[in-house]
Amino acid sequence: MASLERRVAIDAARAAGQLLKRELSGSRRIAYKGSPTNLVTEMDARVEELIVGRLAAAFPDDAVLAEERGASAGRSGRRWIIDPLDGTTNYAHGFPAFGVSIALQSAACVELGVIYDPNLDELFVAERGRGTTVNDQALAVSTTATLDESLLATGFPYNIREGGDNNLNEYAAFSVRARAVRRMGSAVLYLAWLATGRLDGYWELRLGPWDVAAGCLMVEEAGGRITNLSGGALDLDAPALVATNGRIHSAVLEVLREVRGGKP
Ligand code: IPD
Ligand code: CA
Ligand code: CA
Repeated sequence: MASLERRVAIDAARAAGQLLKRELSGSRRIAYKGSPTNLVTEMDARVEELIVGRLAAAFPDDAVLAEERGASAGRSGRRWIIDPLDGTTNYAHGFPAFGVSIALQSAACVELGVIYDPNLDELFVAERGRGTTVNDQALAVSTTATLDESLLATGFPYNIREGGDNNLNEYAAFSVRARAVRRMGSAVLYLAWLATGRLDGYWELRLGPWDVAAGCLMVEEAGGRITNLSGGALDLDAPALVATNGRIHSAVLEVLREVRGGKP
């Protein structure tokens, strides 16, 4: 990966995160995307504009998929995948757990991932084949060997109030089998923290490409494992995700199989 892509993505993620942090205490205009639990603030779009503006200026031939504005085509065969503010519900409440995520995909593979957590001033970077770092320190996933000793994380779909496949049965099952299950509201930070070893596993039933593109590369490059809910390859365009340190992966899949039967 040429250093220009890395540098531009890092600068954009830092600038975006610092803007989010500066504006955190301001009052928020909240709108709703489809369901009463799916919030969006004016900062999601503002920060997205900052990131997309910088990437488009530096790499005008690349396609972009950004959560708020959607997809724009390119001619290079490469695509930037952006979550400008992951943890919008937290942000809207002034709860300091959110991050910025930028990934670069080339020929169906994510090659570069950058995540910035402005609250802890932690910059996570992964490049395919070159490992994952946080603030330039190399990372490795945890060595936890059993589910019983594991700290897990999960999240719930925004249409949770409609019932159906809403992750509550899975949450109950893991809560009595793992050491604990966290539910903090940022997929991007869960994946970055899994790469550091702070978490041992993370699952979620329905995510967007922008939630996982950078973080999954981070987990893999730190020695972890990524699959869909039944152990197959992750579909980046409609991710249903199991991410672990590798050692507990089959135990996590087994619980999901018990609870979900054959449901994809
Ligand atoms: C959400 C967060 C949350 C996860 C949701 C995501 P957003 O992203 O990552 O933790 O449970 O599935 O959509 O909307 O805050 O960018
Ligand atoms: Ca997100
Ligand atoms: Ca978002």
